[in-house]
Amino acid sequence: MKNIAIIHIKTLVQVEQVARTWVAGADMANVDCINAAYLILKDSLIHDFGKMTEWENAYKLLGNQEVEIIDATGKLVYPTFADSHTHLVYAGSREIEYMDKIRGLSYEEIAKRGGGILNSAKRLHEASEQQLFDESVERVYEIMRMGTGAVEIKSGYGLNTADELKMLRVIRRLKGETLITIKSTFLGAHALPLEYKGKQEEYVDMVINEMIPLVASEELADYVDVFCDKGFFTPFDTERILMAGLKYGLKPKIHANELDFSGGVQVGVKYDALSVDHLEFIGDDEIKTLLNSKTMPTVLPGAAFFLGMQYSPVRKMMQAGLPIALASDFNPGSSPSGNMHLISAMGSILYKMLPQEVIHATTINGAYTMELSHSHGSICKGKAASVFITKPIPGIEFFPYAYGSNLIDTVFVNGVRV
Ligand code: NIG
Ligand code: FE
Repeated sequence: MKNIAIIHIKTLVQVEQVARTWVAGADMANVDCINAAYLILKDSLIHDFGKMTEWENAYKLLGNQEVEIIDATGKLVYPTFADSHTHLVYAGSREIEYMDKIRGLSYEEIAKRGGGILNSAKRLHEASEQQLFDESVERVYEIMRMGTGAVEIKSGYGLNTADELKMLRVIRRLKGETLITIKSTFLGAHALPLEYKGKQEEYVDMVINEMIPLVASEELADYVDVFCDKGFFTPFDTERILMAGLKYGLKPKIHANELDFSGGVQVGVKYDALSVDHLEFIGDDEIKTLLNSKTMPTVLPGAAFFLGMQYSPVRKMMQAGLPIALASDFNPGSSPSGNMHLISAMGSILYKMLPQEVIHATTINGAYTMELSHSHGSICKGKAASVFITKPIPGIEFFPYAYGSNLIDTVFVNGVRV
């Protein structure tokens, strides 16, 4: 593979000498950057970086290897986004429900009428595995072009064994046939299918006794997820599913506290979840539980914005010393966008996060929740050559500020230009 040197970089953003696991609390306000920098990508990895004054030397050290040189005068270079929560494998779209939302129905009301997740499950059932792959791979290309280099994708629109496996096989194909780094999560307990109405325990039994063993035997998932919230699955259901997943080595990442104080945060932490996600309903007890845990609080601004919900108390969590990750939640019902630039802007505009805090939340902290801190989330020697070059912009503050412009010029994912 050809070496690539990006030179005359105005600012090289989020550099690390030693890879960290995550960045928390007050530390989130500081991002290490190098002005007037170079960056060398070699064999799909970050090979070297430094000040332009060192560039001659660095170039000599490459000997007579072929190097493509990219001039980034006036431009910034960032590590690609680590989008740690998506449902981007789905069939069709749900703009008709969105009209119902505009007319005033709530997310729960739409779900009760057989809309919502069940609507997507019906469409997914009708789509062949190939159709589902074709639709989803387009979304993967789209997010790569928008600067995402690592992504987590969940099942959860199958809601029966065959369709859950179909979704997970599509995710496996995406892992094999695209450049992006993907982690796969089994979310059989996303909603209760209509035929199980009044029989929630039976459905959970099926998730545990039938789905999880099959998912594990085909090695189709890295993680297990449950929608632990009011009107969906209880902390007790969640606990049973997490225990079953852990038996097969599936670490938890769970949907929690989006619709109420659901107990989801406490269950997640109890089982060392990599992350608890959504978190619109967070009080002192949830914060206390998260402190001294290994669980990353993950906020999904796209869903809160789209559904018109209250916003998670992100500042309060950071002030308590917690880390925060931001993810897109890309899905057809509550966040039909995987645009992490927009998520970054929402982080600043809606949650009052500083540009520096947003950078950590969308890179290293997202990477942590996919167990990718060693390979993604910063510009660090030996990490994946997954970076993007912006258009000429004044500085890092401009990025979340100019939320409607396409500021991304060139993206490299695992060393390849996309
Ligand atoms: O993360 N909250 C639960 N699940 C998804 C919504 C999925 C859907 O509506 O299709 C979410 O927002
Ligand atoms: Fe989600």
